[in-house]
Amino acid sequence: MAGSAGMSIAHARAAGAKEIAIASSNGARACARAMEVLKAGGDTLEAVIAGVNLNEEDPGDSSVGYGGLPNEDGVVELDASVMHGPSRRAGSVASLRNIKTPSKVARLVMEETDHIMLVGEGALRFAKAYGFVEENLLTEKSRLAWLVWRKSLRDPRGHNNWGGGLSKPTAWLKRQFPGVDESTLAWAWEVAVNPPTGTINCLALNAKGEMSGVTTTSGLAWKIAGRVGDSPIIGAGLFVDQDVGAAGSTGRGEENIRVAGAHTVVEDMRRGMSPKEACLDVLKRIARNFNNDRAKLAQFDISFYALRKDGEYAGASLWSGAVREGKRTPRTFAVNDGGPSRLEPCAYLLERS
Ligand code: GLY
Repeated sequence: MAGSAGMSIAHARAAGAKEIAIASSNGARACARAMEVLKAGGDTLEAVIAGVNLNEEDPGDSSVGYGGLPNEDGVVELDASVMHGPSRRAGSVASLRNIKTPSKVARLVMEETDHIMLVGEGALRFAKAYGFVEENLLTEKSRLAWLVWRKSLRDPRGHNNWGGGLSKPTAWLKRQFPGVDESTLAWAWEVAVNPPTGTINCLALNAKGEMSGVTTTSGLAWKIAGRVGDSPIIGAGLFVDQDVGAAGSTGRGEENIRVAGAHTVVEDMRRGMSPKEACLDVLKRIARNFNNDRAKLAQFDISFYALRKDGEYAGASLWSGAVREGKRTPRTFAVNDGGPSRLEPCAYLLERS
């Protein structure tokens, strides 16, 4: 079971580091931006939100914000949460349409209301009241992927209303989408048959020992409209306790919600577990929900990230990374403790054969 990948690094205390930002593997730029804000004396929440805004506004990140993969109707719906350690406050939004930066709206919910969570139409009206402008979040690349997904569906008799169905990224697929390069078609096929959950989580600690976190996502690709994952759920996709530390998650949100993952990681750290032990403990709880059945667990992956108040940190995934040509490519998470951001290997619970 519990693998040791990255033990020496991921488990290491950031020696002498007073300021640190960690994030999911798509967060190297976000961590660097967060560190810039920390170094300029900015608040930890301002830092992590500035960091993930880069992903939210980037059409190239298909798991977050603008360019995120849409729901089954082809509409992008975003979820985000924020927690501010020093004030012990939280805010979140779910199923928010047409606004690129749900993390900023979640912060406004925290700061400008006495509520914690706004969803759907109400969240959109709230954002517009604070000056956010509606935009179409569906990029051409995401629309292509959605069309490929829709065409890949078949009923038990092999029928598809949208032109006979697609079987593989074959010549037929290329004919259906002329002008689209092969790697984009291969990507579209991959996300059609293996709907990703993506997401970015970013956690920061400053020189005063203050902590904050954010998690933001477009959620599960091709979800039923209105589906909400773990990212905006305080205690699942994100939890910060200024006395202990912070944790967040990416991956299959439904499994995280069932174990209140981020809160459990923080509570485990409160009881003395290291960040790595705490992340692995929560992954064990998820595995236990499937009676440790590897075949069922192989249907998804999920990762946790933890940053303790003393600067010790870890990332851990349910599964080890892929094995290519006999060489393991570990799952990674991003770290910045003052220099350039780096990717460190995640620990993991189960070894993929
Ligand atoms: N972890 C993101 C989601 O499941 O929506």
